[in-house]
Amino acid sequence: MTIADRPTSAAPPIAVDDEVSVLFVDDDAMLLQGLRRMLHPMRREWNMTFAGSGKEALSHMEKEPVDVVVSDMRMPEMDGAELLCKVGEINPAAIRIVLSGFAENEAVMKTVGPSHQYLAKPCDADHLIQTIKRSLDLRHRLGDPRIKAFVAELGSLPALPHVYHDFMAAIADPTATIDTIASVIERDIGLAATVLKLTNSAYFCLPTKITDCRQAVRLLGLDTMRSLVASACVFRSYEGSPRVRDRLQSLCDKAMATAASARRIAMENNLSPHQVEQACCAGLLSHVGILMLLAEHPDCCSKAEEIVAREGISPLEAERRAIGANHAEAGAYLLSLWGFSDPVIEAVLHHHDPDQECPDAIDDALGAVRAAHTEVTAGNEGACAACIVKPPKNDPLASAS
Ligand SMILES: [Fe+2]
Repeated sequence: MTIADRPTSAAPPIAVDDEVSVLFVDDDAMLLQGLRRMLHPMRREWNMTFAGSGKEALSHMEKEPVDVVVSDMRMPEMDGAELLCKVGEINPAAIRIVLSGFAENEAVMKTVGPSHQYLAKPCDADHLIQTIKRSLDLRHRLGDPRIKAFVAELGSLPALPHVYHDFMAAIADPTATIDTIASVIERDIGLAATVLKLTNSAYFCLPTKITDCRQAVRLLGLDTMRSLVASACVFRSYEGSPRVRDRLQSLCDKAMATAASARRIAMENNLSPHQVEQACCAGLLSHVGILMLLAEHPDCCSKAEEIVAREGISPLEAERRAIGANHAEAGAYLLSLWGFSDPVIEAVLHHHDPDQECPDAIDDALGAVRAAHTEVTAGNEGACAACIVKPPKNDPLASAS
């Protein structure tokens, strides 16, 4: 059973796309032939196309819709980063993966924005197939094509302006340590998600997914962090309306409280150190979907708020009616596209679902995150104190955006 297949209390029927279309791009004809042979067993599930250049790939996309693009990085005329930027413009909902042997810092940084994941060559068939399948898994759950595009087109998440300022100051400070920089990153959902996305790219060839910001900064190293900051597309500050900014601040405050609570609950229930980290990470990122919607598409949040006010339905249902997915589904899809580990994605996806089989069990990250949400939202009306539809009174986002 996949993460998306796990039953939820109010999940809609999973809409399965008729056929998944996957486009592979590489200027090396031998390698392309090898991919064709390697992926032969998938021919009944995927409609696969193999293009020898970026130009050929774009020409194919003009004629046929594509769900997933897997591109080499170093190609003549148009490299993988440029191609994937263009793919994102033509079809924002397309899943974009770099498959490259060109493992230089510069190459990785160029793909942070336009690509969702970075896989290193040589990549075995199972790993490539599983990466594509995992990326498609939650996409099937999202009903509205707009939300698929909202999530897939997102290159990076904005940081709160004052945290971004502190982050830039720490990066510029030659005496700053890994701990001081990590402690700034942990104060912001957008910074944390972006750093973890980058660390989990295959460039680092790590045997397990990283879920801890401190470890992520340690692995990246301060020089790489400084190079990333110099790259305009990786980190950015939220520059929108003050009212939305205040709500993003509230969201980050609650995310930090949820992360701390999830960590403590996981430790009290004797989860393994790895599960404790996963619980903390999922607690911090459980509302990454709200961050994305508030910062990038506040009109959608307004629409959900109006539905709740008008019809009195649950916030989660209103979000689904307004944008085709609730914030848990949107956030989990984003994290799956960015290569986060399954336990973190699962905890984000199901953080509002009651555990019908064993309601009191806290034996994994999901259990700890659910309990943390209950603790953090205690005394607040509604399913979730940080939900889209819990604005301060007289704070219509429509007029603030
Ligand atoms: Fe929530």
